[in-house]
Amino acid sequence: MGKQIKGFSKFTKEEKIDWVIEKYFADDQKEARKTLEQYWNDNKDLQKIHDEFIENTLTNYYLPFGIAPNFKINNRIYALPMAIEESSVVAAAAKAASFWFDRGGFTAKVKSMTKVGHVHFVYYGDYDKLWGWFQTVKDRFFRDTEDITKNMRARGGGIEDIVLINKNYEEPNYYQLKATFNTVDSMGANFINTCLEQFAQTLQNEMMESDVFSPKEADIQIIMSILSNYTPECLVRAEVECPVEFMAVDGMEAGEFVQKFERAVHVARIEPYRATTHNKGIMNGIDAVVIATGNDFRAIEAAAHTYAARTGQYRSLTDCEIKNGTFRFWIEIPLALGTVGGLTTLHPMVKFAHKLLGNPNAEELMKIIAVSGLAQNFGALRALTTTGIQQGHMKMHLLNVLNKLGATEDEKEYFKNFFRDKVPHYSTIVSEFERLRSPKGK
Ligand code: MEV
Repeated sequence: MGKQIKGFSKFTKEEKIDWVIEKYFADDQKEARKTLEQYWNDNKDLQKIHDEFIENTLTNYYLPFGIAPNFKINNRIYALPMAIEESSVVAAAAKAASFWFDRGGFTAKVKSMTKVGHVHFVYYGDYDKLWGWFQTVKDRFFRDTEDITKNMRARGGGIEDIVLINKNYEEPNYYQLKATFNTVDSMGANFINTCLEQFAQTLQNEMMESDVFSPKEADIQIIMSILSNYTPECLVRAEVECPVEFMAVDGMEAGEFVQKFERAVHVARIEPYRATTHNKGIMNGIDAVVIATGNDFRAIEAAAHTYAARTGQYRSLTDCEIKNGTFRFWIEIPLALGTVGGLTTLHPMVKFAHKLLGNPNAEELMKIIAVSGLAQNFGALRALTTTGIQQGHMKMHLLNVLNKLGATEDEKEYFKNFFRDKVPHYSTIVSEFERLRSPKGK
């Protein structure tokens, strides 16, 4: 067993690299060092920004940053920034955007912007007594956070409400202060958590000072104070619609396509195995823009999947209907996003992405990102219900395989033609590559 390393975070970057290389790459020190150093940025100031995002930074980890143009959303045209490693995602987004560009584009609407946080606590007294007392001191919670909320209120946000919730039936003596917030254009995590920690203090102090409670009752235990990443009331809806007759695709007649498409969506509404993959495809589009715009994709993922399971069964985030000769396809998804604070002012590529989108506010960004998810899902279902997914997928993946094999530019060109009308399976690529490189193939 190895010894624990102490004080690692205090090492300089060079010392950290020396340590990791000696310990884990003893057989190949030069190569390992080169791998890390080749991703350092020559611009020292820029590198410093990245070094300081997290602790123990050794180097940078690149993702491709691409754009998907032609997104018509509420009659405005956007090029979406996408940071993602999966080969076919940007191509699928761009294709879906073009398809809907000619059919009226996407419409999107923010339904609500409310975020939530809780003080989770234990109280050993009578609930009615606590409830009655809470109503008389509720104002105090707003007053004690006035300094914290001042700037947010000036921007039109702040604390919306604070309520007491009895969870005693599910966990003995467990209660919550549930607070709702409007954080306007910031994601608001720090703001919410700071307010909640003050609420916990106020709760403890006020109960201690009140003569309503006995000393034992007043001695509550604060379990924790934290925002919830489940934001079902920070909700956006995006949608497309079009007369069925204009929905012929990839050699398939319009009526047959929309019917198969609708069935595919309904399968994902009732079958969790399919719903998971269906929603994964939606998140391909959502996460790529979330990451490009410097937002927290883990928070977005967590909320999306809880929302997908809100009926007690995990279901598709999108839905579809064919009525009176019209095809309609939509998504409703919670998206707690920020367009100010966080990485938005720090990361040059994040700034670039916001500028590319016309510096949207949080509501606009919610609409754009919901559309990105809907478009991605449309692209996936279109492929799945017509040509199959592998055709487009493997065509994009072909380049990855060829790069892995060390193909030259001429060879890449040859393979593009070779697979023009067939699906490039991995084994076929490799065997054709070997044949081409063999003395006979030349
Ligand atoms: C692949 O990343 C995503 C898909 O599997 C989504 C889907 O099946 O709907 C293509």
